[in-house]
Amino acid sequence: MKKIEVKASSKSYPVYVGNNILEQLPSLIEKHGLHKNVFIVVDENVLGYHLKKIKNIITEKMRKVVVVEFIANEKSKSNKSVEELYDCLIKNNFGRDTLIIAIGGGITGDIVGFVASTFSRGVQFIQVPTTLLAAVDSSVGGKTGINYGKTKNLIGSFYQPEFVLTDTSFLKSLREEEIVCGIGEIMKYAFLCDEKFYSTISKELKQILKLKPTQTTKTIEACVNMKASVVQADEMESGLRKILNLGHTFAHAIEVEQEHKIKHGQAVIIGLVCALYLSHFKGILSAEKLVEYLALPLLLQDKITIDKCNIETIYKIMLRDKKGREGKIKFVLLSAPGVLYLDVEAEKELVIQSLEDGICHFI
Ligand SMILES: NC(=O)c1ccc[n+]([C@@H]2O[C@H](COP(=O)([O-])OP(=O)(O)OC[C@H]3O[C@@H](n4cnc5c(N)ncnc54)[C@H](O)[C@@H]3O)[C@@H](O)[C@H]2O)c1
Repeated sequence: MKKIEVKASSKSYPVYVGNNILEQLPSLIEKHGLHKNVFIVVDENVLGYHLKKIKNIITEKMRKVVVVEFIANEKSKSNKSVEELYDCLIKNNFGRDTLIIAIGGGITGDIVGFVASTFSRGVQFIQVPTTLLAAVDSSVGGKTGINYGKTKNLIGSFYQPEFVLTDTSFLKSLREEEIVCGIGEIMKYAFLCDEKFYSTISKELKQILKLKPTQTTKTIEACVNMKASVVQADEMESGLRKILNLGHTFAHAIEVEQEHKIKHGQAVIIGLVCALYLSHFKGILSAEKLVEYLALPLLLQDKITIDKCNIETIYKIMLRDKKGREGKIKFVLLSAPGVLYLDVEAEKELVIQSLEDGICHFI
């Protein structure tokens, strides 16, 4: 089992990564001296595929255990689900000495983390990511939240877990489209890191898509290390952490315009393509490099389809995005892997052109 330390300014905690390590959860709870009143929220699909494994983590050492099934989708990443979880905690007499465990993908982790950060002004929390996307990205860094109105992740908090336990054996039951979603965030890290990691991901993409153990574990560890160092430098996203939004300003608006028929990780891949076009239109990325870097996201072109969409509506949603300041949309752009530009403003025509050129690869 690998241990990667996340040294955020509010709290340091480990991310444990390994195969078949869920059984170590009870001893890790002991080792970290955590509360014994345990509220476990499990993604319903994960419970279906991995019931036996999850039953095994419930031990007599836990004073009280309640397990709740959660149906994860962008519509259920809502205030209503938060209220239902609060109601369940209250009905079962949980108080400040509660340990909440989220077992699931990014949606489960985001919403349960938000509940943990607000119930009784914050209770202990453990993330057990079960999707590739959650393993490489969302389980680390402490961003929690829900969608509100038509805006993604509008309500939320920064709240770090006690630890993250990434058991790669969960990934075996993922459908291919969910693996593609995880690869969306992996591609983001490939563009954020450097040429070396970018070319490793380009070469190993097919093995990761098949979840080959060596490449998958190595990639999870590399992404977690990268996210840990960004969070360590800027936990609250006042500067450097903004780089993690590469492709996401486009992606979030596309998801909303598509009424979530397209998944987050798929939208991230399209968003990365749009960000590459915009980098080129802004004169940051040469035409030659644009073609070179488009090759990576377009490796998964046949695995993502988007319904006909309204580009003007997507643009309006981007204007409303919480990362826009004074009515201006700010982008993360790049000239090469690892060479990023933050807070770049762009003329409407260039954004529209980037959306048109980017999205047309996937229609
Ligand atoms: N907090 C952050 O820093 C952060 C970062 C990136 C993304 N996110 C958020 O993460 C969310 C997307 O996460 P996701 O892609 O993990 O989606 P998800 O949580 O919806 O999971 C995807 C699907 O896979 C199923 N599933 C989960 N684990 C499984 C398993 N082991 N086997 C079979 N099926 C399984 C779920 O039931 C669901 O249907 C988005 O809402 C996004 O905004 C948050």
